[in-house]
Amino acid sequence: MDGYADGAARACAELPSLGDGDFRYIADILNDRFGISLGEQKRSLVAGRLARRLRELGLAGFREYVERLEADRDGAELSELVDRITTNHSFFFRERGHFDFLRDTVLPGIEASIAAQSPYPLRIWSAGCATGEEVYSIAILLEEYFGPRLRSVDLGLLATDISLAALEEARAGVYAAEKLRETPTGYRLSCFDPAGDGLYAVKDRYRSMVLFKRLNLMSGNFPMRGKFDVIFCRNVMIYFDPASRERLTRALSNYVKPGGYLFIGHSESLPREGCPFEYVMPATYRKGVQGD
Ligand SMILES: C[S@@+](CC[C@H](N)C(=O)[O-])C[C@H]1O[C@@H](n2cnc3c(N)ncnc32)[C@H](O)[C@@H]1O
Repeated sequence: MDGYADGAARACAELPSLGDGDFRYIADILNDRFGISLGEQKRSLVAGRLARRLRELGLAGFREYVERLEADRDGAELSELVDRITTNHSFFFRERGHFDFLRDTVLPGIEASIAAQSPYPLRIWSAGCATGEEVYSIAILLEEYFGPRLRSVDLGLLATDISLAALEEARAGVYAAEKLRETPTGYRLSCFDPAGDGLYAVKDRYRSMVLFKRLNLMSGNFPMRGKFDVIFCRNVMIYFDPASRERLTRALSNYVKPGGYLFIGHSESLPREGCPFEYVMPATYRKGVQGD
């Protein structure tokens, strides 16, 4: 056996085993509360991601961990659980076509329809923002599009996620170079400061444009007042079962202005039957102008 295989076998042998009942309990609670769907094939991934949590809590196995979850009155352990299980992968200007469409079609359309209003309201929501790359890409693009006119925009840029750990990283706004791989060089030079060790810090002016909040997209009733011109909810529903996707699509449609847009990930799709959005192009949907 070579060194790597040897190490991997040892790591597997050290993992506490996750039995049927305990796996079902964890999978069911993640599905009921957060819409996250974990099939049997994810059992070893769950065991691997939670092994460290068991060590931190000094627990011998998953039976004790499930007991801890059952006794978790304030939801603190549930919050830790979802933090460990969710995949917060993101990068700047991911799925670039959406940002081009925002700049070339969405923003000029909004500007033309409400330019007479001053200050001119613009609401954008990054729902499932992970570590913030998506919402900072939007902030960079808005600054470039509006230039000095940004001062006459009453901007609401909201970014939400269920993971507290991801939100903490998002607020800090410091990234490895690899996260900027799709970022045009001009932006890389003007929108970030070097932060040592090859890291890049997004400039403070972008951080101050964004409001980060924890929000469970499965809670259905969101606390926001008012509706959004654009919602980015990309690469989030991919982890959900079909019923949760449908529920979320309906909930989001209640928070989009008539004529507003919803962007989803390119590997995702909205339910066709009774979909409250009209298809515009792959991963891009619009709420009818008459819709409410
Ligand atoms: C892969 S990231 C997507 C990040 C970004 N939107 C993008 O496309 O690059 C998915 C995010 O969805 C979040 N998420 C999963 N279930 C959620 C829920 N029920 N409520 C809110 N956020 C959730 C995860 O914590 C994770 O940060």
